[in-house]
Amino acid sequence: MQISVIGSGYVGTTLAAVLADAGHDLVNVDLDEEIVSQINDGVAPIFEPGLDELVAEHAGTQLRATTDYDDIADTDVTFLALPTPTDDEGKIDLAAMRAGSRSVGEILAEKDGDHLVVVKSTVVPTTTEEVVVPTVEEASGKTAGEGFDVAMNPEFLREGTAVYDCQEPDKIVLGVQDGAAGERALDTLHEVYEPILADHDASVVETGLREAEMIKYANNAFLAAKISLINELGNICKEYGVDAYEVADAIGLDHRIGPHFLRSGVGWGGSCFPKDVAAIIHAAREKGYAPELLEAAVAVNERQPQRLLGLLDTHTDVAGKRVAVLGLAFKPGTDDIRESRAIPVIEGLIERGADVVGYDPVATENMREHFPDIEYADSAAAALEGAHAALVTTDWDEFEALDGEFDAMADPVVIDGRRVIERRDGLTYEGITW
Ligand code: UDX
Repeated sequence: MQISVIGSGYVGTTLAAVLADAGHDLVNVDLDEEIVSQINDGVAPIFEPGLDELVAEHAGTQLRATTDYDDIADTDVTFLALPTPTDDEGKIDLAAMRAGSRSVGEILAEKDGDHLVVVKSTVVPTTTEEVVVPTVEEASGKTAGEGFDVAMNPEFLREGTAVYDCQEPDKIVLGVQDGAAGERALDTLHEVYEPILADHDASVVETGLREAEMIKYANNAFLAAKISLINELGNICKEYGVDAYEVADAIGLDHRIGPHFLRSGVGWGGSCFPKDVAAIIHAAREKGYAPELLEAAVAVNERQPQRLLGLLDTHTDVAGKRVAVLGLAFKPGTDDIRESRAIPVIEGLIERGADVVGYDPVATENMREHFPDIEYADSAAAALEGAHAALVTTDWDEFEALDGEFDAMADPVVIDGRRVIERRDGLTYEGITW
């Protein structure tokens, strides 16, 4: 199939590369010329395992990037994979979606024949019907269901495993309109995903547009709340000297709970959970509903970095002392620092007057933009050397292997927010929930 993807962020680039790899012809549209030329040179614009290989393999043949919306006229399907950030109040910002929808509509005005517009971005319920459809209709002069079709197909990929998640999803959610237009959209989307479903057994959920939009928020809100719940239970465990990981292993055996997403620690970050939980809270409040449990999930998440710092305070006063922060990315396998729990931890250390030295295998340059004035080390060993304390904020595998490096610390105090360092003789060790 001829497919266009608008947006070359995590979702757009991964989707375009994976669909090209599945045998379709892909054009990836982005306004950023640098990103476009990078993709055309066979280089992924983001750090994501496996993505570089796919982009290198298909660039110039089945994958092409462009800044020109005109090129979508030659495609059958257009995925909108544009950012939907939230403002300070948590309200979703649909400016990019509106602009993208308008540009797509302007091209469809000149196009004969069917075209399917698919919303990939995370948008609050009714956005497809009340924002995307009217914008495309106005710009194209055509009516949804007649001049073009529309669908909502949320993405559940995780950073760090995006290619795998896209190639081997648990589920594919297809939200469409009622009636013949919806059936047509489903047929087209089945054709898009046919190569992926042929290789991998995923559940396909066929549903309405606003249900598809809500499924994405429910998925992320549920997972974020699950982590906050195990963090809350973990905080109680800590008060009793109980190991929260032993408790989690046991409760995870109940098939209704399951073993996943029960790693308690310094909390969740990233580009999705914080933004999406904030957006659905804001949307619910606009409807007059107070989502207390989700607000509590956010409050617990904000508390975790403070608890980590509080544990540090029980061991040492860090004013004027060198303190290492191990892990700057919001999770391992990515250089993304958005909403990383390392950020409030570093802020807290700066407030306490500490000399902060950060280390991360890949996220240092991104964190340097956020905190230009702290020191950055080239290795965990270098960060630990002479430090009076170390706080672990990301569960990178390489931290598990640290051992003799702790001997170079001025005071061997380690406060672990991710359960990657083992308790050992000679180390003053505190786990946040164990
Ligand atoms: C998430 C969703 O998992 C994905 O389906 C959605 O499409 C986008 O948002 P992502 O943000 O890439 O993906 O990372 P994820 O692996 O879900 O981790 C999110 C945060 O939760 C990280 O900060 C991670 O450290 C934290 N986490 C995760 C925990 O603290 N404990 C856990 O048990 C799992």
